[in-house]
Formats: sequence, C-alpha cells, structure tokens
Amino acid sequence: DYTKPFHNNADTDWSLRKNAYWIQDKVEQVKQAAIADIPLQIGGELIVTEQKGQGIDPSKNENLYQYSLASAEEVQRALDVAEQSQGAWAQKSIEERAKILKDVAIEIERKRGESIAVMVQEAGKAAPEADAEVSEAVDFANYYADSLSWDGMLDGTEFKPLGTVVITPPWNFPYAIPCGGILAGLMAGNSVIMKPAPESVYTAWVMVNQLWDAGVPREVLQFVPCPDNEIGRSLVSSDRVGAVVLTGAYETGRMFQNWKADMRLYAETSGKNSLIITNAADPDQAIKDLVKGSFGHAGQKCSASSLAIIEADVYDNPAFMRQLKDAVESLTVGQSWDPSSIVTPLMLKPEEKLQRALTTLDEGEEWLLEPKMLEGNPHLWSPGIKLGVKQGSWFHKAECFGPVLGLIRATDLQEAMRIQNDSDFGLTGGIHTLDDREIAIWREQVEVGNAYINRPITGAIVRRQPFGGWKNSCFGPGAKAGGPNYVSIFAEWEQSGLPS
Ligand code: ALA
Repeated sequence: DYTKPFHNNADTDWSLRKNAYWIQDKVEQVKQAAIADIPLQIGGELIVTEQKGQGIDPSKNENLYQYSLASAEEVQRALDVAEQSQGAWAQKSIEERAKILKDVAIEIERKRGESIAVMVQEAGKAAPEADAEVSEAVDFANYYADSLSWDGMLDGTEFKPLGTVVITPPWNFPYAIPCGGILAGLMAGNSVIMKPAPESVYTAWVMVNQLWDAGVPREVLQFVPCPDNEIGRSLVSSDRVGAVVLTGAYETGRMFQNWKADMRLYAETSGKNSLIITNAADPDQAIKDLVKGSFGHAGQKCSASSLAIIEADVYDNPAFMRQLKDAVESLTVGQSWDPSSIVTPLMLKPEEKLQRALTTLDEGEEWLLEPKMLEGNPHLWSPGIKLGVKQGSWFHKAECFGPVLGLIRATDLQEAMRIQNDSDFGLTGGIHTLDDREIAIWREQVEVGNAYINRPITGAIVRRQPFGGWKNSCFGPGAKAGGPNYVSIFAEWEQSGLPS
C-alpha cells in the first residue's frame, strides 16, 4: 500500500566520533558478558542439550561460544507446540498482532547498540553494516505490521494462516533477514520455528530474545538450532510445516525440494551480480558505487557486485583503472569494531570457490590488485580486482562470496547486457550511465529481481526496493521481502485473492 505513510528508520551517523566510541563500549560489554552456552527454546522452556555446535570469532579465528543442538525428539516437540499455540495466535485480531510488531520495532531500536556489538563480534560485520541491519529490521516490523490492516483490504476476503512456518536464514545477514521472515510469518497468524544459521546462532539468539521481550509469545516463536543432518531435514521437510523460508545457496533450495517435492518454499538463493558501466557514466560516481557494492561486508552479500562489465572506452582508459585500483587499495581492511573498516574478517575461511577466486587466475586474466591473506588469519584478506574476465569463464559464472571483483570488457551496451543476462542467476544488477536512452533500453532487458540505476547494487531499503530474485535466485511465488504482498504469502486467501 503506497498510500499509507511509512518512514524508513534512520541509520546511526558514523561521522560523529561519539558513535564510534559508543559502539566500542558496547563491544567491550558484549565481550565481558561472554555468552557460554546458548540453549534451545521450546514451548517456553530453555533447554540445554548434550550435542553442541561451536560459534567462532572470525577476527581472531578463535572459539567464542557453544550452543545446544536439538535432537529428533526435540524437533517433534517444537512442531507439537507450534501447532498447539498457533490457533490462539491466529485468533488475535490483526490490530493486536500489529501492535506487537510495533512494540518489536521499539525494542529493536532500544537494543540497537547491543545488536550491532554482537554482529561485530560474531559475524565480523563492520558497525555501519550491522547498524543497517538493525534499521532494516525496524523497517520490517513497522512495515509488516501495517501490511494486513489497510483500509478495506479485508472486505469480503478471508485468509487462513499456513500453520507453522520454519525460518532457515543465512549467516551473512544474521539479524535482519531472519527477523523479517519471522515477523512476516507471525503477522499472518502463523507459529514460527527459527532454525538459525550454524555460524551466527549468537546474533539470532539476541534477536529472538528482543522479540520475546517485546511481547511475541515464546510458544509461537521457538528457537531450535539443529544439526544440518537428518534432524534438520526432519524439521524442514515435515508434513506439519506450512512453509519454509530459506535465504541461502541455490543448491540448498534444490536439496530442500528434493527432500519434499511439494514443499511450500519461499527462497532467495545465490546471485552472480554485475554492474554495467557505460561510456556515458560519471566515472567518479560509478567507481564509488562499484566499490561499495563489491567490497561492503567483504563482498559476502548475495547482492554484491562481483563483476563490473565496462564499455570499451572506459575499460581502455588507464586513468579509470588507476582510480579504481586506488579506491580499492585505500579501503580500510581490518577488524569490524573499527567503524571505518570496509573489508572485515570473512565469516568462513575461504574454501573451494572463494579460495580459487582469491588465489588463481584463468586464461587471459591478470590482477589489477592481488588479494593477500593478512595477519596469518585465514579469515582476513585484502581486496582483489581481476582484469580480463571473459564471458563464459569460471569467474563470470561462479558465486564466490568474498572480496574479489572481476572486470569484463564489452564493446557496447548490447554486448554488456548480453553478458549481464548470461547467468543462471538473477538477483541484483545495475547500470551506471547518464544517458536516458541507455537507461530505457537496459530497464527493458535486464533479467534481475533488483535492478539499480546509478547507485550501488547492495543495500535494498524496505518498501523502496522490495528484495528478491529471478531465475535460480528465487524459489516460490516471487513476492519480495519488504514489499507490499510479502506478508500475504504466509496465508491462503479466498474470494478476492491476493492483495495487489
Ligand atoms: N537485502 C540485502 C541487500 O540488498 C541482501 O544488500
């Protein structure tokens, strides 16, 4: 509903030194509070189990905490509780549930510093990136709260929640993405089981506690870390689950579907995203936006610009390449508690694809800037830029999820668009040009879910840029997170069908 007033929440102003000190204090507090063992929460009960998972601090490559893992019986109990609790939750009026979501927004805002500090510590997120996650979560809460209560929308329309929704989020947006999925599921009257990503259980734990503190009943939001084996499978593929929300790799989406062909799966999966820079671009702005989209959170975003497809005159201009190299070389590489850091420690030690991207070149490629491992920490790498990436090459196709950017030369815009669309994925994409005709042609032909013009291709804002993919970047009906029909996919609709 674009008629109802909605205001995106403001991020922290990191140009103020006091905010850097504020977050450093919060990080110290989080370190001192040193969480040891995170429990499950099933039916209002905190449960510590024998089987454990291990959380790490990527900045030091050291163990940070452990967490309990559910057994097969605990998964079944959580499903029982979810079924038992859902009816009363769905019986609440839309206004009552909306009020709880608005209270969640207030609580999330109140705990902003703590949440940032936990992400800094556990996820290697630079404070400004973690801060943007908190803002996005506040936006999700306020926006979804109003998603079902538009004037007149419910006239003559019946909707029935799906029952139990399972959330399986990623580690790279450990706060905002699961929070959004949970709140959408809850708003539509479902019970939710949160199975956090194994790498970011601490952030997930802090977030669900904020939701409980704000008034979300514990029985309708349960916290169930489980191993990624037959136990996890028994949760995700249970016939008692109405929908599964996944943000993760395309292969994981396929695996889920193989487990259960008729699963209602809402998934945002994988991307190999590119930014076109044409001869008509403003080169200074293009470089600024490319660098932000490629190296923010060390390139570990599904939305990141992993490729720049550059039209010949710009590509062949040594001044442009020097300026790009200088811009990337001058990024602060380091620890996430320093708000100026851009390229922060990687959540996972590079393996397979990322290791190959960081350390090898294919035929015709050369380094404009070669990445280096720093401080003997396999999680910490300086950023790299590859020249001469070819259409159809390994780097053109592989999602690598790290601080490496590949540059492809295109003779003209048509060729650039062919290369951009030559992908199994279609998550984000962008163009930099000041030529309106080029913009019109590109808008018509680009095959991505989130298409950006003259801006970085990361950092979608709730309601302004609803987020979701095309092609193999998406499973399900394609409703986008932070968009007007997202909550409605968590219910069955009768009579007038889905709201427009
Ligand atoms: N929603 C995240 C972004 O837009 C993934 O960068």
